Amino acid sequence: MEKIALGNSVLQSTRLIYGCMRIVGDQSADSKAKGKKALQAALDAGYNHFDHADIYGGGECETLFGEFLKENPGLRDELIITSKCGVVFKGNPAPSSPGRYDFRKDHILKSVDGTLSRLGIDTLDLLLLHRPDYLFHPDEVADAFAEMTHAGKVRHFGVSNFRPSQLTLLQSSLEQLLLVNQVEINIHNIDTLLDGTLDQCIESGITPQAWCPLGGVVYPAWGNTFTPETEERIKKEFDRQSEIYGVENWIIMLAWILKLPSQVAPIIGSTDPDRIATAKKALEIDYTREDWYRLLEARNGQPVP
Ligand SMILES: NC(=O)c1ccc[n+]([C@@H]2O[C@H](COP(=O)([O-])OP(=O)(O)OC[C@H]3O[C@@H](n4cnc5c(N)ncnc54)[C@H](OP(=O)(O)O)[C@@H]3O)[C@@H](O)[C@H]2O)c1
Repeated sequence: MEKIALGNSVLQSTRLIYGCMRIVGDQSADSKAKGKKALQAALDAGYNHFDHADIYGGGECETLFGEFLKENPGLRDELIITSKCGVVFKGNPAPSSPGRYDFRKDHILKSVDGTLSRLGIDTLDLLLLHRPDYLFHPDEVADAFAEMTHAGKVRHFGVSNFRPSQLTLLQSSLEQLLLVNQVEINIHNIDTLLDGTLDQCIESGITPQAWCPLGGVVYPAWGNTFTPETEERIKKEFDRQSEIYGVENWIIMLAWILKLPSQVAPIIGSTDPDRIATAKKALEIDYTREDWYRLLEARNGQPVP
């Protein structure tokens, strides 16, 4: 599979990343067995980059991945492993605790220790701050990053769901260059095309990664605001393009994201082995600028001015 450099680093990531958020399903033994088959399918299809977070499956996704690594000696060195920290779910640690973000140094260090232990590895290739903590001070994060770098626990750093000003603020305190901004991009959510996020990625040599790339195509996107009429209009255009390119609608969606000039790396979250492999078709089709704009117009319900 095509590879791209992650930010300004030497890390060569496959253009499609495999997202591990769903690999434990409902946490049953059957779901976990299905999750391991999905991981194997991703490897067989050539993915070399696997995306985690400390909160996925309450830590169970990282634990399952750790088991998978143990069952496949030598595999770890062939992979880029990313994880994230900074989100704390409601009810933790006390039942009355609210959901929140936490970029305090102690929290970051503790979270990364947990991630390394669950994955059964010594070093994480890439750590992302999951969602901007409105109470963060960049110097405190810089301190945490420096400590983890010097301890050999994390090689590289990035962010997720950061607006351009938040990324610039954090970068101003860091000794390391941020490599990645992982953001939601799909037919429903095109905020990053409009708010400067993807422009900043090109300008600063940062790799954007797209989470939930299929939201609005195969399932309703987060905070869906589309009316049934809009959904029908978009589907009609997807169906038209699907016919022309000879692929399913969701492949068109991935091709639309891949066409963005900032070299977005979509994160594939399917646990179906066929879909994990078929996603690569999006890298093969010659998707035109005209069709890119047709889909944008279908989404917006009006021609570009
Ligand atoms: N940074 C963040 O804030 C953030 C937030 C969310 C996610 N993420 C990352 O992004 C990754 C991808 O997110 P995602 O899992 O939501 O991505 P996705 O690839 O948009 O969605 C995957 C889901 O769509 C279903 N699906 C895929 N193709 C389908 C089809 N043709 N027909 C019907 N259903 C289909 C899959 O079901 P099957 O398994 O049955 O195929 C699965 O439930 C996650 O794993 C995680 O690593 C990051």
